[in-house]
Amino acid sequence: MGKTLQMGAKSLKSLREAAAGCRRCDLYKYATQTVFGEGAAHAALLFVGEQPGDSEDKAGRPFVGPAGTLLRNAMAEAGIDPAKTYITNAVKHFKFVVRGKRRIHSKPRIIEIKACRPWLEAEIERVRPKLVVALGATAAQSLLGSEFRLTKMRRRVVPSAFGPPVVATVHPSSILRAPGSDARHAELTAFIGDLRHIAGLIA
Ligand code: URA
Repeated sequence: MGKTLQMGAKSLKSLREAAAGCRRCDLYKYATQTVFGEGAAHAALLFVGEQPGDSEDKAGRPFVGPAGTLLRNAMAEAGIDPAKTYITNAVKHFKFVVRGKRRIHSKPRIIEIKACRPWLEAEIERVRPKLVVALGATAAQSLLGSEFRLTKMRRRVVPSAFGPPVVATVHPSSILRAPGSDARHAELTAFIGDLRHIAGLIA
């Protein structure tokens, strides 16, 4: 795929096929494959993460690793059926640095987030959710601009230029990284609270 995207009236399936050959930034050179979004074609809630991790890169599916397990369990606790959502990422290739035998997540640059945004917008346009849920600062900034501050705007419904409003909460990986089980428990409880609040917004 060249620098210009011809999205036209492509279905989600054709978008996924086109994204498989995306060369809009250099991340495709190192990742195993493009990890496109998946889920219910007309989900009321569309979740956006940062980028695929090691497990997702290998599987070719979003949120199938530890952060995905946490996310799905938290959704279920909050009364959101994960099967009725659509889940994707702001950046669709895994960005990493190699340390020994491990591939360690590396934060995407603005240029990579921007290069991937047409895919995200096209997914949102096809799914037409009632609400887009940004998981973490990278997703929120991709959707709402680099001025967006998660610490100030968490849970707040923000109108967007591209269609449905956006609400942001933390990224599930930040809960996994919390220092100690008390902090992890408190952050998980707050995250489930956010998801309950979000479920209430579309009820
Ligand atoms: N973290 C993300 O942001 N996305 C995934 O798909 C997995 C982990």
